[in-house]
Amino acid sequence: MSDFIPPFPKRHTVNISPFQALHYAQNDLLSIWDEESFTVEFMHRKILKQNVFIANSPDTVRYVFVENKDNYERKSPQMRRALEPLLGDGLFISDGDTWASRRKLQTPLFDSTHIKSFTDTMISTIVEMADDWQSRIEKSETKEIDIHPEMGKLTAEIIARTLFGEKLGSENSSAVVEAFAEYQSVVKQTNVSNFLGFPDWLPNLNAKVGKGRKAAKTIHDAVDAIIAKAEKGGHEGTLVAELIDANRGESGIDTMTRKQIRNELIVLFMAGHETTANVLAWTWYLISQTPEVEAKLHTELNEVLAGRVPQMEDVENLKFTRAILDETMRLYPPVPILSRQAKDEDEMRGKIIPPGSIMLIVPWLIQRHKKYWDNPDHFIPERFMPDAPKPTKFTYIPFSAGPRVCLGKNFGIVESVLSIATLAQRFHLSMPAGTKLQHECRLTLRPKGRLPMQVTLRT
Ligand code: HEM
Repeated sequence: MSDFIPPFPKRHTVNISPFQALHYAQNDLLSIWDEESFTVEFMHRKILKQNVFIANSPDTVRYVFVENKDNYERKSPQMRRALEPLLGDGLFISDGDTWASRRKLQTPLFDSTHIKSFTDTMISTIVEMADDWQSRIEKSETKEIDIHPEMGKLTAEIIARTLFGEKLGSENSSAVVEAFAEYQSVVKQTNVSNFLGFPDWLPNLNAKVGKGRKAAKTIHDAVDAIIAKAEKGGHEGTLVAELIDANRGESGIDTMTRKQIRNELIVLFMAGHETTANVLAWTWYLISQTPEVEAKLHTELNEVLAGRVPQMEDVENLKFTRAILDETMRLYPPVPILSRQAKDEDEMRGKIIPPGSIMLIVPWLIQRHKKYWDNPDHFIPERFMPDAPKPTKFTYIPFSAGPRVCLGKNFGIVESVLSIATLAQRFHLSMPAGTKLQHECRLTLRPKGRLPMQVTLRT
């Protein structure tokens, strides 16, 4: 079993003031926590006039996500404001009846049986990348690859082809990916602490988001063009065609306008690639640091696949591959902080929650909580093997929980397991000596800067 403790941001040993927390949050949302945050069950901070609560135990997380979900359904106003120019009323930031009707319409497209119809696309895209790596390596025996952008390319290609089809996907995805990066870089310049509902320190926040409108328009135009082509038929099996069909329903009356369909497609594109790319990048890092984990992974791949390209039916048998993925998402949850806004006054653990309070659920904390996990900072994939004790419910929430759980959870898991298995079967990845791993935490948690890997062919 691995005794590797991957690096994590320094934890304060004394309580820091709200002003210090804001200062640290400017650069890194994960550097604001003290040791105590990994042991307490419920916290309240008043930051200037804003009440911020943190639910950090199974019962408080269950309360927010399930028992009193209606009161905590809204994303923080700052998050909605930053994403609204791009996503409109799309699922990710909508609530109430709009959210409920959209979610109902899309849920069947992402259930575990329907995912099967996307796996051929996933597999062929991953194999294409593996073949490309192989041809690059064969010329020089080893090749240095910056693994985070490489995984970004892979997951963007997979989601674009699944949503829009191979042809429409590859014709339009690079323009959309570039415009997405542009939009994100504009939103990124805004103070990240705004996402937590802290005061708006930047007077020009709106102007900056306004600049992002240009990038948003590029994305809107590209996706509108794709919908128009898909409406003419001939794109069966793609999500865009299925969404158009589901929208028409049996009555023949559309539930969503074309603009609303566009919003949903953009949500899926946005939510569907960066998170998975981050997970895969962290996974390669962790495997590269633990030869014993890599050896066990290879044994499983040999036993289950015997050299075949992995298929959907193999995913349930790739138990250790899946355990590596689960443990990676525990240590490096791609969405490390989930924020909600309380609608009405409420009470939790004897504390009044005034309306408008920010309620945070922090996978980064609860997934490393000292009370619920043994050796919480160690990388131990075995803890997720089927014969190990199950984690306490609501302490492992990389996909969130309750009705607003990630719509693409099955998609993301299958895509990740197939990617790890296909690439690990053919390649060995090692981090060049002297490389320093750093992280960056904005809306998502990702490696910062380059994450170079020496890629060699497995013999
Ligand atoms: C490993 C990969 C992924 C992780 C860790 C992840 C995580 C999450 C989390 C934590 C949320 C909830 C955010 C919140 O409550 O504020 C979420 C929502 C969402 N995710 Fe994912 N996600 C992943 C992959 C995907 C994929 C592949 C898709 C689509 C194909 C997707 C589509 C969505 C959508 C549409 C929502 C909004 C759901 C709603 O509000 O009803 N995700 N995801």
